[in-house]
Amino acid sequence: MRLLFFAGSAREGSHNKKLARLGQRIAEANGIEAVFIDLADYEMPIYHGDLEAEHGPPKRARAFKALLQEYDGVFIATPEYNASVPALLKNTLDWVTRVREKGETGLEVFKSRVFAVSGASPGYYGGMRSLLTLRQILEVGMGAAVIPQQIALPRAAHAFDEDGSLKDEAQQTLLKSVVEALAVAAKRFAA
Ligand SMILES: Cc1cc2nc3c(=O)[nH]c(=O)nc-3n(C[C@H](O)[C@H](O)[C@H](O)COP(=O)(O)O)c2cc1C
Repeated sequence: MRLLFFAGSAREGSHNKKLARLGQRIAEANGIEAVFIDLADYEMPIYHGDLEAEHGPPKRARAFKALLQEYDGVFIATPEYNASVPALLKNTLDWVTRVREKGETGLEVFKSRVFAVSGASPGYYGGMRSLLTLRQILEVGMGAAVIPQQIALPRAAHAFDEDGSLKDEAQQTLLKSVVEALAVAAKRFAA
């Protein structure tokens, strides 16, 4: 059973990358094989039907789908932009749904693994509205199973210690419980 962690932000100092990296570390510390990847390494053009008709999905969309297929559980830490998910994250997910082998709908990769959504924001609500939207995209749009456990980390600019852990013990425990729940669900799914 393997878990993948990534953030819906490519920004160097991204709070959400910190959250995803910490989740990966927690998983590893608990004996779970876990990998963090950076969307900065999977840059794709904005989805455009004409572009797709001419060239098909970009190579990096194929690579990202292949990456997802290697993991049983996926943890996504998303920023909130104007009460929703960032275009970067939506665009990445949209392109992946367009990578289809013969006879595929494109959603198989989402239906066959488990997801956890979480987020971090410098604001007071931790990007909660973005999490609701991401949950809807994954569950309703893509037919994915998303575990109910999540963390919406507020005041993220002040939330992390120098070593990357969360200063607030309750928040650290909450993140650990999300990672554990994802591992349990992914194990069940993979069986
Ligand atoms: C266009 C834009 C819209 C934003 N809207 C929200 C918002 O609705 N709610 C919120 O909590 N933060 C909002 N923010 C602030 C982001 O939470 C903040 O930039 C955050 O650091 C982005 O995540 P990252 O640190 O992982 O890159 C917005 C930022 C941008 C650039």
